[in-house]
Amino acid sequence: MEVYADYAATTPVAPEVRDVMMDIYSEQFGNPSSIHRTGRAARQVVDEARRQIAKVINASPKDILFTSGATESNNTAIKGAAYKRQHLGRHLITTQIEHHSVLHVFEYLEKQGFEVTYLAVNRYGEIDLNDLEQALRPDTTLVSIMFGNNEVGAIQQIGDIAVLLIDHQALLHTDAVQAAGHMPIDVKELNIDLLSLTAHKFYGPKGIGLLYIKPGTDIEFQQLGGSQETKRRAGTENVPLIKGMATALTLATDQMDARNVRLMQLKEHFLNALQDRSIPFEMNGNQNMQLPHIMNLYFPFSDVEIILTLLDMAGVYVSSGSACTAGSIEPSHVLTAMFGTDARTKQSIRFSFSSHMAEEQIDYIADQLLKIYEMNKERSE
Ligand SMILES: Cc1ncc(COP(=O)(O)O)c(C=O)c1O
Repeated sequence: MEVYADYAATTPVAPEVRDVMMDIYSEQFGNPSSIHRTGRAARQVVDEARRQIAKVINASPKDILFTSGATESNNTAIKGAAYKRQHLGRHLITTQIEHHSVLHVFEYLEKQGFEVTYLAVNRYGEIDLNDLEQALRPDTTLVSIMFGNNEVGAIQQIGDIAVLLIDHQALLHTDAVQAAGHMPIDVKELNIDLLSLTAHKFYGPKGIGLLYIKPGTDIEFQQLGGSQETKRRAGTENVPLIKGMATALTLATDQMDARNVRLMQLKEHFLNALQDRSIPFEMNGNQNMQLPHIMNLYFPFSDVEIILTLLDMAGVYVSSGSACTAGSIEPSHVLTAMFGTDARTKQSIRFSFSSHMAEEQIDYIADQLLKIYEMNKERSE
């Protein structure tokens, strides 16, 4: 059996999305900037996709900027806000558990003379709003806090964070990559200034994402050239991917409640399967404040690279936040922020599920973990 349980890394393209994209590849090959009929037809596809997406997140179509993915969206939002607003101050706030496409941008800005506060998290991966309140300064110009974490699934209180910022000059950016399709995202209700998404996490294609920019939010744009995206991002639009993303986001949102129920069942099934087999484990995170598709578990009997390799050999594809550099394993920065230098930062695995998965696949993962556990037990006896 082969079981892919790494849906937080990426998802396959949904058949409906693939069909829509294939049609555009063969029928609407025009350049949306061309003024003839072929160009206008492509422009129509892009406009319609923009409207579709805007409706899902309760924005206006003109507030959506298409990008090559969340890495670009995060770069544009953070650098764009920091540079454009530096006359207002050079202090920025983020968290210790952001994705590297956020963290590395802040580290870069520090080298450019900006001051960055990296908020700590508790053992469940949640920030304390009091910490944020205390970190805010008159010269803070941007707060960037992720909606839901990609390694442990921890959800932050973005609505409450926005309330805290109401009377402050700082903009609020959120990386909502993992939340999209799993949590309702209403940019107006949540009062978000900048929001990043990437399509391949919700059964859309890779290499396409977006940045929502609240009207009146002035940021510096990086890419110069043609007048595409109302001069905010030069470069010919990738029409099939844009339409694919709009289709995928609409589908994921329409099916969200049913998918989430199923995902929660699968998670519960997995926990029971591990308990039934007496495999020792602990959860990293709080199951009640967790994205429904992500679960990160600590197995106090083997190191992450051994578990990942043995699972891979058994046809189970999962991952961890650890990075393998030059043969040694770097513990995940997210788990380190949650637990310090605890052994569990090197003995934890992320499982991320799809609502299409079957109980038998979950049982298979548990069976393989049992084999690894027993093998380790024998070795240490
Ligand atoms: C939370 C989060 N932010 C940003 C990204 C970057 O997305 P992309 O690689 O599509 O640019 C990812 C993808 O792993 C992610 O999980």
